[in-house]
Amino acid sequence: MTKIGIVTGSVREGRVNLQVAEWVKEQADKLNLDAEFEIVDIKDYELPLFNEAMPPAMANKQYTSEDINRWSQKIDSLDGFIFITPEYNKATSTVLKSQIDYLGPEFGNKATGIVGYGSTLGVAATQSLRQILANFNVATVGPFGAFSLFTDFENMSTFKPAEVHTATIEAVIATTANWAKALKTIR
Ligand SMILES: Cc1cc2nc3c(=O)[nH]c(=O)nc-3n(C[C@H](O)[C@H](O)[C@H](O)COP(=O)(O)O)c2cc1C
Repeated sequence: MTKIGIVTGSVREGRVNLQVAEWVKEQADKLNLDAEFEIVDIKDYELPLFNEAMPPAMANKQYTSEDINRWSQKIDSLDGFIFITPEYNKATSTVLKSQIDYLGPEFGNKATGIVGYGSTLGVAATQSLRQILANFNVATVGPFGAFSLFTDFENMSTFKPAEVHTATIEAVIATTANWAKALKTIR
């Protein structure tokens, strides 16, 4: 079975991120695809802000810290991802970039979808994350989610996505699952 992690991108108190992740998982489960979906909350794997002299990514994926090993093993165990990213100053979040910086080969030759949100739809965050992940040979699917804090959230805090997004999100999920399955063959 193809395993897809729906990866959160914010850890702050009061974040809206997890609501979006949970909704995406609901949509994914409804599609009855040949794939299983789980939420990977970076809050459960949160490491200090990355501040190392050398890239920690190692060919044998054994790190000196147990906390990094745990995060590494989770990403390693997945065939694909759907990243849920907020937008901060026209980029993905610092915390998600930092979590990614700890790893490397764990992401290689896997597929991802990206779902962004923010006051200006999170499109710049999505594009920045696409570029970051390309560095690790992650194939990002064409369709992406773009939710507005003004029209897809009540009081900018409770996620109530407009119906118009459903078809796009289904395309993100289905294409990611397909590509994740296909890319297994070259790992
Ligand atoms: C410092 C700061 C910068 C932000 N910059 C952007 C931005 O460039 N584009 C955007 O669409 N939203 C921007 N926002 C709005 C955030 O995307 C919004 O607060 C969102 O709820 C953050 O996600 P979270 O609640 O899951 O942490 C910014 C918010 C803050 C606090």
